[in-house]
Amino acid sequence: MKDNRNLAIGISLLIIGVIGLSILPGMRMTMGGITGGGMLMDRHDMKEMMKGMMGALLPPGINPENLPDPQSTGAQLLAQYCTQCHELPGPGMHTAEEWPSVVDRMNQRMWMMSGQGMMRMMHDIKAPTDNELQALVAYLQRHAR
Ligand code: HEC
Repeated sequence: MKDNRNLAIGISLLIIGVIGLSILPGMRMTMGGITGGGMLMDRHDMKEMMKGMMGALLPPGINPENLPDPQSTGAQLLAQYCTQCHELPGPGMHTAEEWPSVVDRMNQRMWMMSGQGMMRMMHDIKAPTDNELQALVAYLQRHAR
């Protein structure tokens, strides 16, 4: 099994590299998020690693109760999917025109890390279905800046 393990570590470094590439300026590589035992990161470690790497680029985060229309499907999907890597982004962060491309970028990451591709060791990330994605974008646009 040793080979597999090395491969997995290699791939996780690759992922970090891929994420890093898009944000080179100001990036600080912190490996502290990778747990001592090996390749699996839990969600908390993941978030910490993201914060270490891209601090200011990430949404500062709001409280789920402060979302507009907090009981709606859209608000719940947002709290479910969009807090996997960083704090909860409020719909007011972007205009209705901007949201689809932002969500698209996030969605690509979620798919990449959800094990649909070869990135299975980030086991904990879930990607939305098409319907959920539409509901998310609709919600964000409805309450956009
Ligand atoms: C797989 C990890 C991951 C998930 C899940 C994720 N994000 Fe992000 N998000 C990032 C990273 C990395 C950045 C910083 C780099 C960037 O902006 O692309 C970021 C930055 C952001 C930003 C600030 C940058 C900007 O363009 O305003 C917003 C807003 C945001 N995410 C919204 C969302 C929303 C909405 C969702 C849920 C649909 C979501 N994120 C889910 C990883 C993720």
